[in-house]
This record gives sequence, C-alpha cells and structure tokens, in this order.
Amino acid sequence: MVICIPSGITEVEKRAVRDSAEIAGAKEVYLIHEPMAAAVGIGIDVEEPVGNMIIDIGGGTTEIAVIALSGIVCDQSIRVAGDNFDSDIVQYIRRQHNIMIGERTAEKIKIEVGAALPELSDPPADFAVQGRDLMTGIPKQITVSYTEIAHCLDKSISKIEEAILKALEITPPELSADIYQTGIYLTGGGALLRGLDKRIQAKTKLPVHVAEDPLRAVVRGTGIALKNIGRFKFLMQ
Ligand SMILES: Nc1ncnc2c1ncn2[C@@H]1O[C@H](COP(=O)(O)OP(=O)(O)OP(=O)(O)O)[C@@H](O)[C@H]1O
Ligand SMILES: [Mg+2]
Repeated sequence: MVICIPSGITEVEKRAVRDSAEIAGAKEVYLIHEPMAAAVGIGIDVEEPVGNMIIDIGGGTTEIAVIALSGIVCDQSIRVAGDNFDSDIVQYIRRQHNIMIGERTAEKIKIEVGAALPELSDPPADFAVQGRDLMTGIPKQITVSYTEIAHCLDKSISKIEEAILKALEITPPELSADIYQTGIYLTGGGALLRGLDKRIQAKTKLPVHVAEDPLRAVVRGTGIALKNIGRFKFLMQ
C-alpha cells in the first residue's frame, strides 16, 4: 500500500498512518510526501539533479516544496488554502451585501466567479447567489462579480505569496538558478483559481505552470509510485 502524507507530518503522525494501514491489512506500507507525489503525477523527472518548485494549494493547507535528486530540499507549509477562500467569501457577502450564505455556496461562488486578479482577459459572467437577508430574515438573491471576489480573496492570496517568497529565499542558490529556468508548478484545487498563475508570475517574475488536472496530481503520482514500486521505492519511506 502506498499512502501520501503532507510534508510537514511528524514522526508520531507517520507511525499512526503506517499502523492504520497495517491494521487494515496491508502487508507492505510505503509513505510518499505529497509534493513528491504531485511532482511524479505532473510528470517531472524527480531523480534529475535539477531543482523544481511545486506549490500544492489544497483545502486546508498550501505546501510549497523544492524537489531535486529524489528529495524535498526545502519546504514551507501554511494553513491558508481553499477553505480560507470560502470563509473570506462568506464574510465578504455578509459585510457587503448583508446576506448570510453557507460554506457550500461560498465554495460554489469561488469556483464559478473566483479570481486572484481584479482584471482578467477572459472574465467569467456575474453569478447569482441566494442567501438569507440579515435585515429581514427573508431569502434574497444578489449577483456577484469576479472583481469583488478578487478583492475579498486578496489578503489570503498575499499570505500564500509571502510563503512562496520565503521558500524561494531559503532555496540553495544552485537550485534557485534551476527554478529560474524551470519555473513553478501549481497543483491542488487552488491552482484552478482564475488568474492565480498570472498573479504569482507577476510577484516572483518566474514562469508559472498550472499542472494538468491539478486536483488529481497527488493521487496520480501516488498511483504511479504504487504501479512502479520497484523503481520508486527510494522516494518512499
Ligand atoms: N475551479 C476551482 N477554483 C478554485 N478552487 C477550487 C476549484 N475546484 C476546487 N477548488 C478548491 O480546491 C480545494 C480542494 O483541493 P484539493 O483536492 O487539492 O485539496 P485536498 O488535497 O483535499 O486538501 P489538503 O491538501 O489541504 O489536505 C477546495 O478548497 C476546493 O474548493
Ligand atoms: Mg492535498
């Protein structure tokens, strides 16, 4: 059994994952760090002596890792990701429109009209949102635009940008030189936020690539590791 684990996991947590898998009947258990699995899933040759930066923006955490020679050289992990975007939207709609919406509606808004930049070349149409009017208590409908959502997500995205800059700062110079060439790979559901690649590109002045099918890069990589267990054993623990 191959199980992917966050790169910031503790030894105790690792033990717990391994024990659970063994209790579930696994004969051999291998753990692979999520950024490494993502890199394999994206199709990066992780064994090469070349640095690659992977940013995985999930629901609960954003993980930023530099990978080279089959290992994670440095990484940053922050608890700012998709769920924060949802709660930013709930708060914004309450403050600005006096309407109460749930987290699920907020996630839908993020997917339909979410954006990281207030101006996009290919903008989505305004989106109709139903919620409860806080003044009257009666259900009400409003429309929201991507520009509004870009403004309300700005603070959380800035926190992610800060973590990226910090990760670049602690990257050994040889690998920095590689990343200057190879750029940054965005993965996880957050990579789908409109304009996020352009925003990070503008902030870092580095090429930013969105992984193909970013929601499944980690699980794809884990599957590849499982199917080629002999070849990828050295990546796992
Ligand atoms: N089109 C989209 N635009 C913006 N965000 C999206 C989109 N599709 C999915 N998401 C968000 O991506 C997040 C889920 O991504 P992912 O599946 O990579 O996370 P996870 O691996 O479950 O979480 P974690 O890595 O934090 O444990 C959710 O917050 C979801 O709302
Ligand atoms: Mg994830």
